[in-house]
Amino acid sequence: MHKSDSAVKSVIKEENFNFSKHTTYGLGGTAKVAYFPKTEEEAVAVYKYLKNNDERFIVLGKGSNLLVSDSDFDGSVICTSCLRGIEFEGNSLKILSGTTVNQLLTFCIRNGITGFEYLAGIPASIGGLAIMNGGTSDRRISSNILSVVVFDGKIREISNKNCNFGNKHSTMSDIDAIILAIYAGFEREKPATVKKNINEFLEKRKHQPRGKSCGCVFKNPNGLSAGRLIDEAGLKGLKIGGAEVSREHANFIVNNGGSAREVYSLIKAVKKSVYEKTGINLEEEVIYIGEFNELNC
Ligand code: EPU
Repeated sequence: MHKSDSAVKSVIKEENFNFSKHTTYGLGGTAKVAYFPKTEEEAVAVYKYLKNNDERFIVLGKGSNLLVSDSDFDGSVICTSCLRGIEFEGNSLKILSGTTVNQLLTFCIRNGITGFEYLAGIPASIGGLAIMNGGTSDRRISSNILSVVVFDGKIREISNKNCNFGNKHSTMSDIDAIILAIYAGFEREKPATVKKNINEFLEKRKHQPRGKSCGCVFKNPNGLSAGRLIDEAGLKGLKIGGAEVSREHANFIVNNGGSAREVYSLIKAVKKSVYEKTGINLEEEVIYIGEFNELNC
């Protein structure tokens, strides 16, 4: 028996894990088991255990950028939602990967920390933001990150430069590893000002579509807006079953009681139509988990 096998015994587990309760789309089948490590040590133990047993698995943060197939996932899930916490370490903050934007901003208000307010309203975990270099069109998490701590068989600290942050992409998107934490720089500000800044960013996001979605489905092509291209192709309001191209922002596909297959088919239909009209091949920002095939519409 490996050492990690016994360490995994004390980790919280959920059998028949239902993705639809853990994704912002509210979609997806089940996985046989999900692990909820609370510490970096537990996360490492679960990762090692699954690797040693040749188990297929995915790491799940807030599930806000995922489309999970309706069919059951033949593997396990490492959920980072309990792997949360923030500590001062010298001149930086160490933020565990499952910490949510809301938890981070509450900490920032309480401790008078500025620089993260632009994240307000993004339904993401810090690990998810780091992988995708998430943020807004003005500022991304790469501007805060000093380094990212991952485990890929060994604990490694990847410097900001070596993270190769790009457009909704980073080194962490391409490696087989679990993000444990990030180190971020910070500055001081009066709590009342931090709170005011957060409210201003929340106000800006008020116009974003409501309803179940994964945020923007496609990356913005260089210098262009995917939302505008889809809008100009006349696709707002296009529906397949319960999936609909939002009338408020065309880069959002909302789920009104549909299936993952319907959302997937609509994404592919939008992609095809924009390509036929403009010659531009939109690239998905949303990450697919599981097997998909399109409906014949
Ligand atoms: N536009 C349209 N029609 C639409 C949508 C947009 O004409 O249906 C036009 C807007 O009028 C504007 C331009 O396209 O002139 C850009 O639109 P917007 O300001 O909404 O920004 P975006 O590029 O579509 C990006 C991020 C969003 C983020 C916003 C605000 C990407 C793919 N999208 O959207 O992020 O919320 O800026 O900072 O990077 C996400 O990450 O999931 C996401 C939604």
